[in-house]
Amino acid sequence: MKACSKPDIPHHWSNFYTAKAFRKSGGEMVERLAEYLAESQARRKDFVLPYTPPEERLVYWKSRLKEKGGVEAGALWKANMLEEVLAQSNRLHDPRYAGHQVAIPLPQLAWLQAATALLNNGMAIDEMGPASSPMEEAVMQEIAQFMGLGSASGGILCHGGTLANLTALLAARQRKATGNAWKDGSERKCAVLVSEHAHYCVDRAVRVMGWGEAGTVKVRTLSNHQIDPESLRESLTEATAQGLEVIAVVGNACTTSTGTFDDLEVLASFAQQNDLWFHVDGAHGAAQVFSERNNASLKGMEKADSVAMDFHKMLGVPALCTGLFYRNGSDAYAAFSQEAAYLYENEQEEWWNLSKRTFECTKRMLSVAVFGIWEAHGHKLWESLVNRLIDRAQTAARSIEQRPHWELFAQPQSNIVCFRLKGADNAALRHAMMEHGPHYIVKTVFDGETWLRCTFQNPITEDSDIESLLDRLEELAESEIIQP
Ligand SMILES: Cc1ncc(COP(=O)(O)O)c(C=O)c1O
Repeated sequence: MKACSKPDIPHHWSNFYTAKAFRKSGGEMVERLAEYLAESQARRKDFVLPYTPPEERLVYWKSRLKEKGGVEAGALWKANMLEEVLAQSNRLHDPRYAGHQVAIPLPQLAWLQAATALLNNGMAIDEMGPASSPMEEAVMQEIAQFMGLGSASGGILCHGGTLANLTALLAARQRKATGNAWKDGSERKCAVLVSEHAHYCVDRAVRVMGWGEAGTVKVRTLSNHQIDPESLRESLTEATAQGLEVIAVVGNACTTSTGTFDDLEVLASFAQQNDLWFHVDGAHGAAQVFSERNNASLKGMEKADSVAMDFHKMLGVPALCTGLFYRNGSDAYAAFSQEAAYLYENEQEEWWNLSKRTFECTKRMLSVAVFGIWEAHGHKLWESLVNRLIDRAQTAARSIEQRPHWELFAQPQSNIVCFRLKGADNAALRHAMMEHGPHYIVKTVFDGETWLRCTFQNPITEDSDIESLLDRLEELAESEIIQP
């Protein structure tokens, strides 16, 4: 190291690969992030989202790039860059955050994330993940069994629900479609039955597999957004009559927009009667399996062939970290069968070479956080987290019902609540809140109408935050911001 040390040249690599530089920047980072966390949780800023138009922010970041260089020796980024990132980012840890479905990370997991970033074991094959591969196998088997998927079950971790849904459908194609699509391509156009309110990634997966728009057969739902069993039967008959080979039915647990759970019992027996693969998109709501109080909506999930569950939504794990579980663990190998002499020695099922079951080759050491929580707490920490988040949604629903002029879409089954102010321009109302704060919520549109939408992701959110959110919306609705 000594021979190539060039401390007088700021960008020489040898300045950065030292334990000393690492320790110094880490110490500063811990202090700064702890302060950020404390100030966010204490609502010390008067906004969650520091709103400015995207064009303005792009001009800012571009202008910084015009001033490249000029750092002191040993600095990997400019001192005020992190400050700007903190200042401009959406403050998820502020208890007034009730926006999109992403975990408010359990703060200490940032350190595990840092540790695994430093280790950077790529996980594709056992040698590149000698700790994290068996950790993944062990913890995924236990969680799969906890979910009721049975003694042959298992699963893998991957980067996101989108990828998990695609992977599950690839396995479904191998198990159910005529011929060997992985080897020879699809013989016939296949199709998947899915709720009209499914997340767009299911449709995207179908198109990626080459079945086009027709490959996603959108099944009509009841007024509560649950798949209508009658329409399910009709959709299968119609799709088959059109020459499509229907291979799977996908259940929502729950829908992104309104948090509605399909009747998974009904879908499971429909799939069984018609020899279809049954996949549950539980990216958001499968996490409720950990809660005795809130798991009733998942009845039937244990009969699924595959289930996607995001640890980075209700379970406090930083994004991205998704579990894809299979009732028959061997099905995971059906999704991919790749000859790659530089990686594998054979095409056998080898649990320790994880990329035989994942789309990714290199992936992050995702198992460490999941294993850590599971080993330390079993399902209990997740149970208390899920209960708290759903309790926040139920508290909001009660308050909405008690206030005149407000309309609740439905009693929340999860931590998602949709509601609107009668007679108001709810899209403008949401925009006004985004621009002026202090709370952060989102909106959704269905049947051509806009609804306000909160996903209560932050366990620190108090009843008083919920009241002040509704008060603030009423104030904005009255104000000249949205009343020209
Ligand atoms: C029901 C559902 N499925 C899939 C996804 C996509 O998951 P990810 O963002 O992890 O790719 C989402 C995201 O919100 C979702 O709500």
